[in-house]
Amino acid sequence: MSEIKEGSSTRNWRTSVGGHIDGKAVVRGYPLDDLVGNVTFAEAIYLVLKGELPTERERKIMEAMLVACIDHGIGPPSVVSARTVFSGGNPLNAAVAAGVLTLGDHHGGAIEQCAKVYQEQLSDDVTDVKVHARKVVNDFAQKKKRFPGYGHKLYKRDPRTLRLLELAKEYGFANRFVEFAVAIQDCLEADSGRPLPLNVDGMIAAIISEMGISWKNGKGIFIIGRIPGLVAHVVEEWNREKPFRRLEEGSYDYDGKPLRAVPQKKASS
Ligand SMILES: CC(C)(COP(=O)(O)OP(=O)(O)OC[C@H]1O[C@@H](n2cnc3c(N)ncnc32)[C@H](O)[C@@H]1OP(=O)(O)O)[C@@H](O)C(=O)NCCC(=O)NCCS
Repeated sequence: MSEIKEGSSTRNWRTSVGGHIDGKAVVRGYPLDDLVGNVTFAEAIYLVLKGELPTERERKIMEAMLVACIDHGIGPPSVVSARTVFSGGNPLNAAVAAGVLTLGDHHGGAIEQCAKVYQEQLSDDVTDVKVHARKVVNDFAQKKKRFPGYGHKLYKRDPRTLRLLELAKEYGFANRFVEFAVAIQDCLEADSGRPLPLNVDGMIAAIISEMGISWKNGKGIFIIGRIPGLVAHVVEEWNREKPFRRLEEGSYDYDGKPLRAVPQKKASS
């Protein structure tokens, strides 16, 4: 059991997340057994990430963001991977970890990149958010880069974004960053002439920026929200499906070389 000691050697591992004080387990200074039964899971998540307990409106928006991440059907890469790895005969933890490993720039990971852009670009001295959005979109277009947090395979408008936007307004989190996020969507759509909606990743990126949560937590928040969904998919795979799932013949195309004969090796002299 590690005690927090004044002036301990800098060679020691350090943490301000949790430890033991006078033999009592603490998380960010609060006794863990007092947190149990007194705070919700979302409040505890906010506490470990941000260092303080949330206010009531912070708690409500945190709950809403985590619920928005929880599942999005069997189709996304994370669920296909988790179920496939389980189907190959691996344990639940390996299958869920495989699902988490797919969360990258195009799936879930966009929160981190998008919040980084918002937090680095929208400094306090920006006076006109819409004019600045136009400048930032032009910079991305010049570099031929996709704007993280925009676009969706299924939606012209992401329903999760619309609901979170409604709640952000209700709880007082629809300020400069949210205005910037929506202005970027307007610029991207005006330039491309196609729907490029602010997706759930982009909306969460804007809200955490409003809340003063560093972009470095972005991917983590998605992972925390999506893991219960991944666990549910793996347990369902376990209960309902036979092992060794594979693509059925006829559901994929082979477009390689036609059938051909293997060259015969010349007999050595
Ligand atoms: C999510 C995503 C993969 C969906 O892609 P899609 O709807 O299948 O779109 P496509 O990959 O077919 O792209 C269609 C066009 O839109 C453009 N486009 C798509 N998303 C774009 C974005 N975020 N920024 C700029 N242009 C984008 C593509 O460049 C492409 O243009 P082109 O036809 O001139 O080459 C894509 O929008 C994307 O990469 N978004 C950024 C990452 C992100 O936010 N992921 C989280 C998803 S919830």
